[in-house]
Amino acid sequence: QLSLDQVRPWFTKDHENRLQSLAQFAYRQLLDGQVDAFGKGWLSWPVDDHAELYADIDKISDQLTKVSDVTVVIGIGGSYLGARSVLSMVYPEFVDQGKHQVIFAGQQLSGTYHAHLLKYLDNHEVSLVVVSKSGTTLEPSAIFHTFRAYLEQRYGNEAASRICAITDAQKGTLRQYALEKGYATLPIPDDIGGRYSVLSAVGLLPMALAGIDYRQVMAGAAEVKQRYDNLDVADNPSVQYALARHVLYQQGFAAEALVTYEPRVADFAGWWQQLFGESQGKDGIGLFPTMLQFSTDLHSMGQYVQDARKMLVETVLDVEIADAPELVVPQGLDEKNAYLEGRTYDSLREVAIESVIKAHSDAGVPNIRINASGEAASLYGELVYFFEIACAFGGYLLGTNPFDQPGVEAYKTEMKVRLQK
Ligand code: PA5
Repeated sequence: QLSLDQVRPWFTKDHENRLQSLAQFAYRQLLDGQVDAFGKGWLSWPVDDHAELYADIDKISDQLTKVSDVTVVIGIGGSYLGARSVLSMVYPEFVDQGKHQVIFAGQQLSGTYHAHLLKYLDNHEVSLVVVSKSGTTLEPSAIFHTFRAYLEQRYGNEAASRICAITDAQKGTLRQYALEKGYATLPIPDDIGGRYSVLSAVGLLPMALAGIDYRQVMAGAAEVKQRYDNLDVADNPSVQYALARHVLYQQGFAAEALVTYEPRVADFAGWWQQLFGESQGKDGIGLFPTMLQFSTDLHSMGQYVQDARKMLVETVLDVEIADAPELVVPQGLDEKNAYLEGRTYDSLREVAIESVIKAHSDAGVPNIRINASGEAASLYGELVYFFEIACAFGGYLLGTNPFDQPGVEAYKTEMKVRLQK
């Protein structure tokens, strides 16, 4: 559920009306446009038939969980952030994630992190999943071969049966390498780019390894897709959200923070940040996507948001996952705090959200609110599809291609020049 009440001074009905023809045009470009057709496989993906893929995922997951109790999943960017975010959202804090542990690696070049991880693995049975569509990304390539060498040293010929490569369906150096070594492989479809790929094998295999019912995740995404298929563009909440942030951007706001109130949703904000940052931040334009975790950040960045330069838009993502008993503040508080007695934490959070939205929007910070509730796995799928539509559609509103990321190449080229000298 999307609420634009606290954004109305900036995003009026008038704006909405005036944008209708641009919205129709951008939506048609998203659904029918041919130019960027290579990037649109994710649009129908939740309702496509994946029986064969699911069978392969289940088989590989069974094999890896049979031979190991820890799987190291190596990837970066779109080959990492989705899988991390779904694992954090679906598993409650302080709950043992089943028998099988999934650890992420390859998303930075810290020798310390990876050396400590290798030491940790010595006391476990280990398997490896490497995720890279191109197969040539520097960080995961270096880390994959470090861990591959570790497995070969430890398990000899048996190492190959503990490794799976998720990579381009047809081509690429990683596919070639995996075939030569006899690894299991899973495909990343040609027409699904990294940051739109969490519902492909990229996210589904880590989910399966962690014991998450990925079919529920897909069902959530399919449910939203089917709902949107029956809606006029003007009634589509993803479109409304994208239009609101577009109008705010045009009024000079420079950044958008995804505000979360549940710690287990913070990694989802990381996935959202990459989705919007890489899809829309190009050609000198685009809102800078950032994230705030409240109440934690109310006591650090809250000061800045309230009182500093007014360049920020807040989008509050209020996620309610109903898998914990209701917690109540007990009796017996001191006199000054007695007003809290008997309050449920849910009610305190709701008052916090309303108060913060009021305080910030009165101070000139537009607030968009998105409420989502339900069972964790299907809710995750719903949110993914909601934001993917908003992001790609918003890219077309800006007149940019939401499926490429030319700016990511510059540092890679520079690094390669230095390393190959
Ligand atoms: O969204 C994207 O396409 C990128 O973030 C990629 O996922 C990231 O650069 C990793 O690329 P690759 O999977 O080719 O290693």
